[in-house]
This record gives sequence, C-alpha cells and structure tokens, in this order.
Amino acid sequence: MCGIIGYAGHRPAVPVVVEGLCRLEYRGYDSAGVAFVRQGGLRVMRAKGKLAALEEKLAQEPLATATCAMGHTRWATHGVPAERNAHPHLSNDGSLALVHNGIIENYQEVKADLASKGYVFHSETDTEVLVNLIAERRKSEPDLLHAFAAALREAHGAYAVCLMHSAEPETIYAARMSAPLIFGLGTGENFVASDIPAFLPYTRRVIFLEDGELVRATPAQYEILRLADLAPVEHEAQTIQWDMQAAQKGGHRHFMLKEIFEQPRVISDGLTGRINAARDAALLPELDALPVPRRLHIVACGTSYHSGLWGRHLLEHWAGIPVQVEIASEFRYRDSLLLEKEEMALVISQSGETADTLAALRIAREHGVPVLGLCNVVGSSIAREASAVIYTQAGPEISVASTKAMCSQMLTLALMALYWGCRRNSLPATRRRELIGLLESLPALLDDYLPAMHDRARELSRKYAQARNFFYLGRGHCYPLALEGALKLKELSYIHAEGYAAGEMKHGPIALIDPAFPTFALALDDALFPKVKSNIVEVQARQGKVIALTNPGLDLAVDDPWIIPALPAPLAAFAALPALQLFSYEMADYLGKDVDQPRNLAKSVTVE
Ligand code: G6P
Repeated sequence: MCGIIGYAGHRPAVPVVVEGLCRLEYRGYDSAGVAFVRQGGLRVMRAKGKLAALEEKLAQEPLATATCAMGHTRWATHGVPAERNAHPHLSNDGSLALVHNGIIENYQEVKADLASKGYVFHSETDTEVLVNLIAERRKSEPDLLHAFAAALREAHGAYAVCLMHSAEPETIYAARMSAPLIFGLGTGENFVASDIPAFLPYTRRVIFLEDGELVRATPAQYEILRLADLAPVEHEAQTIQWDMQAAQKGGHRHFMLKEIFEQPRVISDGLTGRINAARDAALLPELDALPVPRRLHIVACGTSYHSGLWGRHLLEHWAGIPVQVEIASEFRYRDSLLLEKEEMALVISQSGETADTLAALRIAREHGVPVLGLCNVVGSSIAREASAVIYTQAGPEISVASTKAMCSQMLTLALMALYWGCRRNSLPATRRRELIGLLESLPALLDDYLPAMHDRARELSRKYAQARNFFYLGRGHCYPLALEGALKLKELSYIHAEGYAAGEMKHGPIALIDPAFPTFALALDDALFPKVKSNIVEVQARQGKVIALTNPGLDLAVDDPWIIPALPAPLAAFAALPALQLFSYEMADYLGKDVDQPRNLAKSVTVE
C-alpha cells in the first residue's frame, strides 16, 4: 500500500511527480523516491521519511531537462523503512527502474533463482527482485514490452507498477494486478497513478485500468494491452467531476478537521436524488434489479466495519432483514460461510481497494450470492467487481483517519433500510416519512452544533490529555460508536483505548478501572439509557472518572457530561459521531501528533 505516479509529457517532470506524490502520501509516507533519465542514464533519488526529506535532496539536483519521470511514496511491507528499501529500484545493469505498490508473493523463489544467475540485491524488497526479473527476461526478449509482460506473468501477488528504461527517456510502462492504477490522459502529456488526485491539476480524463492490463505511454501516445497475450484493449475515457478544491484543506488546520466539518454537506449530498417526491420512500435504483435479501452478510474493515455494525440495527429494525457483520480479514478464512441462495453480501469500503474486503467480495461471489458494494471511490476495484454498487458520495477523504466516510456510509445504510423496509412492507409510510424528515433535518442541526461541539472537545481534551488509557462504552446502536470512538483515539493520539459493550464490563474489564483510567460513555436518550446508567455507576464505584456523551434532561451524574442534541435512536449516532471524532482530533493535536498522517498507518490498505 504505497503510492505510485508516472509522467510522460512536456513539463519539468520531477516537480509534477513530487506534487503528485504529495497527494498520494496518504497511502504511505515512510520513504519516497523518484527516477528520471539524465544524460542517457537513469537517475534515482530516494530518501527515508516524509516527502520533505526527498524534496530537500532534489533541491540540490539539476532536474530541469527531464520531461518524463516516476515516483513512489512507501508504506513498508518487505523491509524496514530505510533509503535502501525506498523505491524506485534499479536493475543490476542500471538500465531499468521500477516503482511498485503491492506484494509479490513468490519473490523469495524468484530471488533465489536470480541470485544463482549472479544477480545481487541491495534491498530486502520484492520490487528489486521484480525489476531484475524483467532485466533477466530481456536477455531473451529484447522488446521491453514483451520482457515486462513475461516477468509480470511469473509474478504472483498484487501489484501496480511503473517502469522506466534508460534508453527510452520519454516512455513510461505500467501494469496492474489487484492494486489500483489509473491512467490520466492530458494534452501532450500522460499519467499513471495509484489515485486520481495525483494528476488532477493537469487532467480530469481518466481510464480505470483493469487487472491484467499493461500500458505504454509517451507524451503523445499510449497503448493499453492485455498482459496475457499483449492484445490491444479499448477503454473509453471518463471525465472526473470533482476538482482539486475538493481535495484541499479549505482553510482548516488539517484535512481531518475539514472532513469532520463537511459532514452536514455529506448528508445533504447523500440525500440528494434519493428521496421520492412524497417524501416517504428512499430511491436506490441500484437495488431495484436485486431481490430483497433473506439475510445480509456485511463485510468490511476498520471504520467501515463499525458503520456496518451500526447499520445492522437499522436493517434489522426497519427492514426486518437478519444481518451478520464480519471483519473482512476473518470472513475470508472462515470454513462455513453459510452463504445461501437469497442471501446477499454487502461489502463496505471507503477506498474500494482494501485487500481483505476485496477478497471477501470475491469469495461471496464464488458462493453465487449477489454482492453489493458500498464505496466512496468511483471506479475502485470493489465498485467494479460488485454485482451492484451504491456510491456514498462523500467526496475525496484525504485524512488517513476516516471521518466523513463513516457518516456517508451510515446515511446510505439508513437509506437502504428505508428502501428495503418499503419493499418488504415492514415499515409503514408514516414512520418512513418521519424518519426521512429526521434525516433531512440533520445537515442544519449539525451545522448549528458543530462549532460548540468543537469547543467542548477542545476543553475535555486538555483535561484528559494525561490519560494513558481510555474505555469507550456503549450499548445497542451506541456500541459501534464506542468502538469507533476508541479506534479514533488510538490511531490519532496513540493513547490506548478500548471500545466495549457497556454490559460486558462486569465480566472482566472493570478490573482495570482506577482513578487514572477514564471512561468515555455514550449515554443517549434511548431505551437502553437506564442500563448504560447502571454500567456508569459501576465504573464510578471503582473511582473511575467518566465523560458521558448524553442528551438534555437525562438524570445522569458524571464528572464531565457532554450534552449533544437529542435525536431518536438510532439516528442519534449522527450527532454523537462528530463529537467522538472531534475529541480524538483535539487530543491528538494538543499532544502534537501528526493528525492527518498518524504513524504506522495508511489510508488504503491494499495488502493482506
Ligand atoms: C485503513 C484506514 C481506515 C479504514 C480502513 C478500511 O485502515 O486507515 O481509516 O477504515 O482502512 O478502509 P476502507 O477503504 O475499506 O473503508
């Protein structure tokens, strides 16, 4: 899970590539590098650490003449973060350079074979093995395109790669297999990249390359070929509707803050065109051709998994559809998946590229059930491989920690529950009208409350910044929120946090409570409030300090009540979610952590 970009055009190429890498840094940021041809030889520049370290090095180099280059920003898989493991990697003879996102699973065997032929390796990476395999295949196949394809056919695993040759200073070669790669068509310039923002300032015309496709591009021409037999492939270019402004910080200190504050807009965009004129039904034409599932298997990772857990409450209560929710990395290795006819799998993924979720999708398809994708990124692998896809329309999410994507997933799940509730006659029109009215009221309500919520988050973060541990407790529809609150706190501020079902505390975890171990409770105005209140009292009886996210008028005595607007359950989650996000944001920012790019993480996890 790294970011790659290749450019062949008429501009100074290295600045174009570095700028592109900057917008791909969310995919990994432990080292970076670029390659270009200078005076007939490949020049590779690499640096450990964030892109700024590479930029410093590049500032010392004469770069002006290169109009073709490629670059890489890395999230370590094989080999520690170090300059020797940073990409691009050169073949032993120095004629080829390669950048790679993915994992070549059989690289050890290939490496041993190449080593026996005299190849030497300077890194621990699978990428250096692959570039030397291409060099080796070139000995019997002088046409680089054929040698490139031959080597890739021998590589097992996932890759998006870009290749340059010292004798072809104006050409980039690229290919993909189970890792994202998008081709950008400019005027007198062409691009390949792991994601569209990398080249969006220059072109909005794109081709989503498919698995098993290879591309050769110069500034004026390109050809897309099938890896299997090098037969040409025709693709129609698509025009991207969003622009760079949507990918900028918009005056906020961090992308994360911008994205939290975008949630009212995300809700109104997500409702646009999805409610009928009578305001008593959700319109999801994507689902019209599919039968209503007898049982739904939701599969996802991380924050998307928490959305699925929350969505289960609505799908069961409103639509009467039994739902099982599972983490994709577990689902893919289960023996008895119990996927039967009339069941359906729903895979939720912001990026649409998460390797485990994609594998789960493929398994569900093999079982012959329809697979519905809930994705944010248009044209992503999951979106393309699913039987049907509903886009969450949240716009680009740049911050590594997911915020607005969860809000958009929750909204879409609510619309799905309304839609199936209507088709199954399990939800009367009056109730649907009421719920739709509530959903439509959310943007204005959140716009009003977000600034005050932010203030309270700032205040509480200062008070609790010394804590080394946190419990997040919730029940029912608030349990997934407790999990999400804890995930946000740990990933952003590196404070240990556990999300727990409040009723389970007494079965062990309560032993951890002491005055230095605070609890963040979700105690909203719903049927389970009395139960959560009892669980809070149990924590307080062990001298535990409690912050409680709660609603006006509830009888609750805690150290730090945090009153948020009341909404009927389970829609109350739309008000609780930004409070949890803002608390973690403020905590991390106050502690001086890198909010948008937390250590050890990547936004799009395209490895297993
Ligand atoms: C990574 C990200 C998380 C995200 C998860 C699933 O771990 O850091 O924020 O929730 O992947 O990503 P997806 O794109 O499938 O929703």
